[in-house]
Amino acid sequence: MRLGILISGRGSNFEAIANAIANRKLDAEIAIVISNRANAGGIEIARSRGIPLRVIESKGLEREAYDKLVIDELRTHEVDLVCLAGFMRLLSASFVKAFPNRVVNIHPSLLPAFPGLDAQRQALEHGVRITGCTVHLVDEFLDSGPILLQSAVPVLDTDTVESLSSRILAQEHAIYPKAIQLIVERRITLNGRRAVIQEDDEE
Ligand code: GRF
Repeated sequence: MRLGILISGRGSNFEAIANAIANRKLDAEIAIVISNRANAGGIEIARSRGIPLRVIESKGLEREAYDKLVIDELRTHEVDLVCLAGFMRLLSASFVKAFPNRVVNIHPSLLPAFPGLDAQRQALEHGVRITGCTVHLVDEFLDSGPILLQSAVPVLDTDTVESLSSRILAQEHAIYPKAIQLIVERRITLNGRRAVIQEDDEE
């Protein structure tokens, strides 16, 4: 399966996916990494690993016009699955239609709680005792598509946004490649918005 990874920043989830491929835990290939920001930290990760990279800046472009550029680039690289990894833009309905049930995202909360920006801060300020992260399919609404995998992370009384975020991030790096591998193995089927995961006989 050929992955197209969309980033805007640090790129640690992109790196976790690349590591899982290198360690043969994920049977896929990164066909292209696209950053919408010229200063994203993830750009250096792609360069140093020799992974194909395109910077397509979104600044000043209408959503539809920008998405068309990205769709064209993904098609050029024959991408099967689009992985959003800290990509800080909402996708248009036409993007979602171009890759039906073929766009995934990682979000740092247990959705549907705390969608949107600063999910870890939202969780801390709300006072929940448990938060976590979610891999989900992407639709045209914010953090709202069918949930594929989640991992729970306890909130400690001593937590700051930074300490909580870093424990959640470790879980993100574990479940994102795992969810992609489930898709690769075609073990996920959708029943309405419920993802049903077929057991692995060897597990
Ligand atoms: C992660 O917390 C991810 O869940 C959210 O944005 C952050 C991206 O981090 N969508 P990175 O760029 O993958 O390091």
